[in-house]
Amino acid sequence: MDSYYNEGTLVNEIKKTFSIIGNSYEIDNAVRLLIQAAPTDLSLLITGETGTGKEVFANAAHGLSKRKGKPFVSVNCAAIPETLLESELFGHERGAFTGAVDQRIGFFETANKGTVFLDEIGDMPIGTQSKLLRVLESGEFTRLGSSQTKKVDVRIIGATNKDLNKASAEGKFRSDLFYRLNTVHIVLPPLRNHAQDIPLLVEHFARRTCQKLNLPYQGFSDDAMSVLRSLPWPGNIRELKNMIEKVITFHKGEHVTPEILRNYIPPALPAFEIRNIEHDNSLMTLNEPEYTGTPELSLIFRTLLELKSDLTEIKRFMHNVAVLIEDMNRKSDSVNMHSVEEVKSIEDLMENTEDLNLEEFEKQIIQFAMKKYKGNRRMVAESLGISVRTLYRKISALNLENEF
Ligand SMILES: Nc1ncnc2c1ncn2[C@@H]1O[C@H](COP(=O)(O)OP(=O)(O)OP(=O)(O)O)[C@@H](O)[C@H]1O
Ligand SMILES: [Mg+2]
Repeated sequence: MDSYYNEGTLVNEIKKTFSIIGNSYEIDNAVRLLIQAAPTDLSLLITGETGTGKEVFANAAHGLSKRKGKPFVSVNCAAIPETLLESELFGHERGAFTGAVDQRIGFFETANKGTVFLDEIGDMPIGTQSKLLRVLESGEFTRLGSSQTKKVDVRIIGATNKDLNKASAEGKFRSDLFYRLNTVHIVLPPLRNHAQDIPLLVEHFARRTCQKLNLPYQGFSDDAMSVLRSLPWPGNIRELKNMIEKVITFHKGEHVTPEILRNYIPPALPAFEIRNIEHDNSLMTLNEPEYTGTPELSLIFRTLLELKSDLTEIKRFMHNVAVLIEDMNRKSDSVNMHSVEEVKSIEDLMENTEDLNLEEFEKQIIQFAMKKYKGNRRMVAESLGISVRTLYRKISALNLENEF
């Protein structure tokens, strides 16, 4: 009883220290694993869908380790073009490649005695993975263009929303690296699997926004809270946080009802009609059951599942697009005519589905988001619900490079 009490108190203290909100079994379990693993030097793998708190947990793992006070270097493996990633990680000597006019110290050297957080590690090119494995096993690496081996003392934390087990089975991720990273694996749940934490999260984000803007906080009605609990939240806690900040800001902290919320739920979502969709899985990606019938039926079954997952992707994309348009419309009083015209043309495109040319549609959406986020590719990718690497690919495929 005593030790249970102590463990519970510790879990709560850690959550408070690192602003981890949630009282569900899922969150407490992840925090318990964090407490066990953080003080060790073991590599840590944190997985979960986008916006589930991987970076929050990575920061907490560093903050709870003996390396606290030493560097915490965060590298987004998907945001750095493949050709640059190795020189960023390991550094390079002068003249190592065209354009290497100076010597450069890589992130591993900078982070010596501290932690390297490899975000979106599932997107790391296979060649770089071999070099990472060497650092993990011996702490050794060489700068590009050098033959001198260097040694560092770093702890590695990797995070991804990809299924590395599957990626390694498909040969896209080195299995030896996967096993090495997987020593401790914290799985962060999607928000829809711990919807009971939504009221706490809403209160937290709403109060914080009110504090920042110096507004009185007047809470959410029970019905409004039920609506929030029933949404599928494909963007998880990040999406919830953004929505709450928007609602509180635009309504100046007033008591939030379902009628107010309605304006912030994109029409693409079933809950726009404010009904309980707790048991409607259509927007959720679930672990599908394996079908074990005849090969023909199995093929049909798999095709259906693929169609369903395509549909989920499209819905998710439309959801993000709707959020973008809604945002732009709300700001339309203060934006210039050019942006308003652009919003209109995207709306026209969406309405005119007969003429819908997917490529043109994608092009317009990307141009629109690039303007909105002033060319910040990470924010553009986030707002569209795609990885930065996919965004780069699309920009290149759609010949948009010269525009930004
Ligand atoms: N348990 C939590 N309590 C409070 N805030 C949280 C929690 N989890 C995440 N957040 C907040 O949600 C946002 C997204 O979290 P974070 O950046 O850690 O997600 P992520 O899993 O790294 O997402 P991505 O895969 O897109 O990089 C941040 O603003 C973070 O502060
Ligand atoms: Mg992240």
